[in-house]
Amino acid sequence: MLEVKNVSKFFKGLVALDNVTFTVEKDTIQGIIGPNGAGKSTMFNCITCFFPASKGEVIFEGKNISGMKPHKITELGITRTFQHTQVFPELTVRNNILTGQNVMQRKDRKRSKEQLRAKIDEIIAFVGLESLEENLGKNLSLGQQTKLAIAISLATEPKMLLLDEPAAGMNPEETNQLVDLLRKIKKMGVTVVLIEHDMKAVMGLCERIVVLEHGKKIAEGSPKEIRNNPKVIEAYLGSEELA
Ligand SMILES: Nc1ncnc2c1ncn2[C@@H]1O[C@H](COP(=O)(O)OP(=O)(O)OP(=O)(O)O)[C@@H](O)[C@H]1O
Ligand SMILES: [Mg+2]
Repeated sequence: MLEVKNVSKFFKGLVALDNVTFTVEKDTIQGIIGPNGAGKSTMFNCITCFFPASKGEVIFEGKNISGMKPHKITELGITRTFQHTQVFPELTVRNNILTGQNVMQRKDRKRSKEQLRAKIDEIIAFVGLESLEENLGKNLSLGQQTKLAIAISLATEPKMLLLDEPAAGMNPEETNQLVDLLRKIKKMGVTVVLIEHDMKAVMGLCERIVVLEHGKKIAEGSPKEIRNNPKVIEAYLGSEELA
């Protein structure tokens, strides 16, 4: 579904991504892991052209999307969340989700107000924010804000969802709920690419994992292969994440 081909990203003298190649299969959850500063978020920025890649190509469903405008990429079906969850603090849950839906409406102007409202109700129930729809974004807990950020993304009706560390700062209960939600999203037919430091969540959810370190891909494989890969163990030496 997605092919990242020889992508490099340079910031002045710094090589944030160095000739990285991998693919994402449709209907899977693919993990991207690696130590801080490895280039994970930069990879999302290159895929969505938030910052275009300095070199290489990104192919989505056979189409070269390198250098396209970010909103065009959303319309093609790729939506992402940001590392530090962003919801609109002064908007209600419902109106936050409406902002995502506005992107989708550009694609399909024929839907009635009732159909659009029903779709938002469906998304609110899907992520489990039913009792909170009139609450302001700023009054939600961190776990609820992450659900809301995912709900905003789902309102664009993506084919592929890129999530940047959604479990960051969550307690184990919130992380379990997130894992269940991501399984439901996959079942619904949305392919997921997940950047995450919570190894239990990554290993439990992902069919395949790409490991970045200092901008380079150092490993790729199943959770079991990754857990036993000497290069990965070395990269994580001294950290508790793989334990
Ligand atoms: N806009 C930018 N300008 C300059 N350097 C940047 C920019 N964005 C990222 N970098 C640098 O690129 C490298 C990779 O950063 P990136 O944010 O992609 O890492 P990451 O793997 O997401 O790390 P983390 O796990 O901490 O989120 C880092 O050295 C970072 O400082
Ligand atoms: Mg990051």
